[in-house]
Amino acid sequence: MNPNDQLELPDYKHHTEEVRARLNELAAREVVLDTQALGRRFDSAQGPVDALVGIDIEVRKREFVSVIGPSGCGKSTLIRIIAGLDAPSSGRVCIDGTPVEGPGADRGMVFQGYTLFPWLSVKKNVMFGMKMKGLKSKAAEASALRWLELVGLSKFADHLPSQLSGGMKQRVAIARSLANEPRILLMDEPFGALDAQTRASMQNHLLQIWQSVDVTILFITHDLDEAIYLSDRIIVLGAHPGRVLEVIDVPVARPRRQEQSLTGHFLATKRRLESLIHGNGHGGDSAHPHAARAYPSLSEIPG
Ligand SMILES: Nc1ncnc2c1ncn2[C@@H]1O[C@H](COP(=O)(O)OP(=O)(O)OP(=O)(O)O)[C@@H](O)[C@H]1O
Ligand SMILES: [Mg+2]
Repeated sequence: MNPNDQLELPDYKHHTEEVRARLNELAAREVVLDTQALGRRFDSAQGPVDALVGIDIEVRKREFVSVIGPSGCGKSTLIRIIAGLDAPSSGRVCIDGTPVEGPGADRGMVFQGYTLFPWLSVKKNVMFGMKMKGLKSKAAEASALRWLELVGLSKFADHLPSQLSGGMKQRVAIARSLANEPRILLMDEPFGALDAQTRASMQNHLLQIWQSVDVTILFITHDLDEAIYLSDRIIVLGAHPGRVLEVIDVPVARPRRQEQSLTGHFLATKRRLESLIHGNGHGGDSAHPHAARAYPSLSEIPG
């Protein structure tokens, strides 16, 4: 075989039976989060900026949905509006069909920056929200220890955040959010500050947690591999104005393994995402200048 041959990829829309069954099952579930004609306009010295226009998305129960798009396309604005930390200029957000009017315990948030209270132990950080909700200390402590066990940090319950690595801090932040039993976990580039190896292990941790807890996840990332590896569906946003370009059903079987990143379906999805994000709008076109360089030839793929 000619070593310069490019990899023949399947159509990213072609689903195996297993993937199709999972996507059909998801589509039949109740909607946890939906936005209707959501828009956000900011005033700036140069005039109004449409950070988001006409955003209509749906996320279903226990679904894992990622949002990707170039810097400035409105990802953080979207998640802040869903969290109730910012208000839309038009349209609305609903959780379980009820319009959002501000922050609430039904939505947990995990950001890129470490948001733990540095003066509280790991366990007390996880107990914080439960105590705010009026849970007695003993019950909050027992619950915090269960959540710490789930994220693999039981041994660090009495440590201070400063004694933990970045990945461990994010695991505490995840435990703290989940301890409030949110309907949906909103994550804005939570692994963005971690080195590649820690990031990969956090992705696996998150999938394990998501599989064992009844929670829906909306996950923002810049990283195409991360979006494909984690998600059932990927919402691709374009910039200026921030809008939905496409929603992609991820054609990769679960449970996921890192080796799947070399499979045809994974690479085809990545190629589609790249073509959308690089803005040619045609998608999947191997004549696209980025497409030729983005994929290894068969001879470069191990095994
Ligand atoms: N408070 C604000 N006032 C004015 N403009 C804002 C404000 N917040 C965001 N914007 C503008 O809205 C647009 C979207 O910003 P946002 O932070 O949501 O993008 P993003 O997709 O999260 O980017 P990144 O990938 O860099 O995090 C940008 O043009 C930004 O300058
Ligand atoms: Mg952002």
